Amino acid sequence: MPLSRLIIKQFRNIEACDISPSSGFNFLIGANGSGKTSLLEAVYLLGHGRSFKSSITGRIIQHQCDELFVHGRLKNSQQFELPLGINKRRDGTTEVKISGESGQKLAELAKVLPLQLIHPEGFDLLTDGPKHRRAFIDWGVFHCEPQFYETWGRVKRLNKQRNALLKTASSYRELSYWDQELAKLAEMISRWREEYVAQLKEVAEPLCRDFLSEFDVSISFYQGWERGADYAQLLEKNFERDQHLGYTFSGPNKADLKIRVNGTPVEDILSRGQLKLLVCALRVAQGQHLTKLTEKQCIYLIDDFASELDSQRRARLADCLKETGAQVFVSSITESQIAEMNSENSKMFHVERGKIEPVE
Ligand SMILES: Nc1ncnc2c1ncn2[C@@H]1O[C@H](COP(=O)(O)OP(=O)(O)OP(=O)(O)O)[C@@H](O)[C@H]1O
Ligand SMILES: [Mg+2]
Repeated sequence: MPLSRLIIKQFRNIEACDISPSSGFNFLIGANGSGKTSLLEAVYLLGHGRSFKSSITGRIIQHQCDELFVHGRLKNSQQFELPLGINKRRDGTTEVKISGESGQKLAELAKVLPLQLIHPEGFDLLTDGPKHRRAFIDWGVFHCEPQFYETWGRVKRLNKQRNALLKTASSYRELSYWDQELAKLAEMISRWREEYVAQLKEVAEPLCRDFLSEFDVSISFYQGWERGADYAQLLEKNFERDQHLGYTFSGPNKADLKIRVNGTPVEDILSRGQLKLLVCALRVAQGQHLTKLTEKQCIYLIDDFASELDSQRRARLADCLKETGAQVFVSSITESQIAEMNSENSKMFHVERGKIEPVE
């Protein structure tokens, strides 16, 4: 569902903002430091409960203020409205409101406001460690499999407990009971992830080839341990090694999405612009797949749109996003850089020193 209203208070340099975005494209145009990324960051906070730039709440609350607010109103084509809000305070507390009810969980916000962020640092998805790619897979599994969030939470707790036990246990017998439970849930997580990647691959690989026509992009899933091996047996077999290391070496916490281009790891072969295009293709594919499977539409946040993409590639990305029919927020320093994206269902906003004004 698109945001039909967005209210931001005391968020970085945005003291107060109240806008009615288009359900299609929304262009944010302004000079360096004007507040474009901050607006995208505020929408991201509304869907994730945290910023994509800083993990410290104090950094995103406006200087000299004690708290920030972000409110949104989601509206679907049948005019059904869902109000959402998040309030963060300097003392570290967070309050989430959905449909007028306080005390809601962040996971509930994430469920109703699926977001895809494309920003200049975003290609760490491809070049950094597996953590980002695991988060990418889990975003999809979270939205498609209702039991995932709780099950993954239990796996993480069991894993933590196991790592603590490894330090004190004198024999494997002390772990075996817990390992049975851990293995059962880990296999479940792994099956969901594997199924998800298999489905996503059908959408993502053709889109990657479309964006990077000269390359053959392939995607595969690594579950975090040897394919076909029984995880419970593996935990027992590796007990001494894990004990020596002080943590569980193999498992769903090591899962990864292997992305190769012409059979080679992506960072060895692609330019920065090409890496960025690949990230765009993966994120657009993930949104398309979500809509296909659940009829949920995600909102795209695209920061610093023009950087490192030529005009032909910018136009291709814009066409692709238009086809999805999703709501998109795009930031850019000049209007000319977003010329290729203009469509009938769009609004433009000028951003200047934290003030966001619609352009008629
Ligand atoms: N907690 C805060 N309180 C007040 N102002 C802040 C806070 N944190 C950052 N700022 C300021 O807010 C401004 C917003 O920057 P933002 O990153 O949104 O700009 P931008 O329009 O995306 O610029 P660019 O085109 O350079 O990416 C900056 O000038 C920054 O110094
Ligand atoms: Mg910016």
